[in-house]
Amino acid sequence: MNRTLVICKPDAVERGLVGEIIGRLERKGLSLVAAELRTIDAETAGRHYAEHEGKPFYGELVSFIGRSPALVAVVEGPDDTWKIVRTLMGPTNPAEAPPGTIRGDLATEMGENLIHGSDSADSAAREIDIFFPGLA
Ligand code: PPS
Repeated sequence: MNRTLVICKPDAVERGLVGEIIGRLERKGLSLVAAELRTIDAETAGRHYAEHEGKPFYGELVSFIGRSPALVAVVEGPDDTWKIVRTLMGPTNPAEAPPGTIRGDLATEMGENLIHGSDSADSAAREIDIFFPGLA
């Protein structure tokens, strides 16, 4: 089995879409291994988004992810679970996300795109270790 990190971002919690989002992952055949509702502090957000430091949207991203509680979860499935989650999410920009994807069906704005999923197996291991040490 293979694990990845998923964050239902603050907009998902605020809009009451956590059940819808996690339900889509579960109906696909993935399982929750861990989940915690938490407000992500700036230090943790900085570690999580370290690769984006210096990009124009970095400040907005760190502030958004900590603006209210997020549902941080470890999801398990077969090989390349991270890729399955990314397919279900749809592209970063909801305006370009096709119907049937989480962002395509439920989001409109780049800055409020509901869900984070690790973008590689290495990222999954690194990110799980930040939020749930020992679970990767
Ligand atoms: S990049 O530069 O291609 O690596 O960026 P990308 O993978 O598309 O996005 C990385 C994360 O930054 C978020 N993002 C933004 N937030 C706010 N405003 C703007 N303009 C913006 N552009 C990208 C995007 O949602 C990604 O967050 P995560 O949590 O990884 O999905």
